[in-house]
Amino acid sequence: MRVQVCIIGGGPSGLLLSQLLHLKGVDTIVLERQSREYVLGRIRAGVLEHGFADLMREAQCGERMEREGEIHHGFFIAHDDRLDRVDLAKHSGGASVVVYGQTEVTRDLYAARDRLGGKVIHNADDVTPHEVNSDAPYVTYRAGDEIVRIDCDYVIGADGFHGVSRKSISRGVLKEYERVYPFGWLGVLSRTKPVSPELIYCKHERGFALCSLRSQALSRYYIQVPLTDRVEDWPDNAFWAELKRRLPDTVADALITGPSIEKSIAPLRSFVAEPMRYGRLFLAGDAAHIVPPTGARGLNSAASDIYYLYHALIDHYERHDDSGLDAYSGKALARVWKAQRFSWWLTMLLHRFPDHSDYENRLQATELEYLFSSDKALGSLAENYVGLPF
Ligand code: APR
Ligand code: PHB
Repeated sequence: MRVQVCIIGGGPSGLLLSQLLHLKGVDTIVLERQSREYVLGRIRAGVLEHGFADLMREAQCGERMEREGEIHHGFFIAHDDRLDRVDLAKHSGGASVVVYGQTEVTRDLYAARDRLGGKVIHNADDVTPHEVNSDAPYVTYRAGDEIVRIDCDYVIGADGFHGVSRKSISRGVLKEYERVYPFGWLGVLSRTKPVSPELIYCKHERGFALCSLRSQALSRYYIQVPLTDRVEDWPDNAFWAELKRRLPDTVADALITGPSIEKSIAPLRSFVAEPMRYGRLFLAGDAAHIVPPTGARGLNSAASDIYYLYHALIDHYERHDDSGLDAYSGKALARVWKAQRFSWWLTMLLHRFPDHSDYENRLQATELEYLFSSDKALGSLAENYVGLPF
């Protein structure tokens, strides 16, 4: 089989690029290791920058997001018995974010691929890029006992942090940057009315907490936990009790609890791999970079990679102009690192670090105090949260 662009990974990054290219007549295939049910079973963050939302609309996948997503113009930071609101609209020149679950984004992308008859292969085992440094790259995968070969012009590694693509880049070429945080996030999904119409990020001496939502009937809550904790250490009643301890009294009193329908612990990591291009292999999304979920930048960082790759590939196929492809890695990384900075900054601001000195704890408190004393500081927070320009 031959296609123009072979995409490894059927998560949001791979699906969005495949959909955008298909609409421009570029022939693609998506090779996904897991079943569709498995992919759609993942619970991830739920805040979309306006740039990502625009891409979904351009990909003809924005209809349900428009109908069911919530436009948010601000969020709260709870700290030192205060509840301060970050007015995103005021401090970002009127911008906002869309609160819409990433699982739903992925579901909408799969539905769009099906509507267009897009080629998406599930349960593709042993996907392997070959000859990516040549003018004739190809990808193989195993379907049962059969090895299938896909010849292509370009290979897109959209296979996430644990994928095969980044590992296909020669060790002498790849430079990796990483910071692992000394705690994780225990997340709970519950069919309860959210405690607040807008997100509440909580800095507390017992640890970070976050009150989020998927809809007015589906709440998402997180608490910071030690890396040694396991989900079974946290029965529902223990989770709700700890969450309440970290919330301002007025919020804790209003919290509606209920049985968890999903409960998991995620580690927090900052990671970037450079370069994001190796011959005719291009990395996108989590395959190249990971952020702690604090700033909800994961999917949004993938969005700018996809935006740049989409336009670069169209320039190649429509105008034989490869300047976008040649500039991709540098351009993508420039924005990736700004998302890294913001995610790191917000994580350092709001979490309790067991090994921090009194001086560092005092500095953290001062950072928050300064933030809410300065419109310029709030402006910086707001412009990063709604999304820096692509
Ligand atoms: N072969 C084929 N598919 C693979 C392989 C492989 N060797 N390894 C991983 N995959 C698939 C995974 O099963 C997953 O469905 O690639 C997909 C990668 O999807 P994500 O990890 O979601 O990464 P991405 O699409 O870049 O999304 C970025 O969405 O999933 C969130 O936390 C993520 O916020 C981030 C954003
Ligand atoms: C979520 O709803 O899962 C969520 C929202 C905002 C974040 C992180 C996670 O910063």
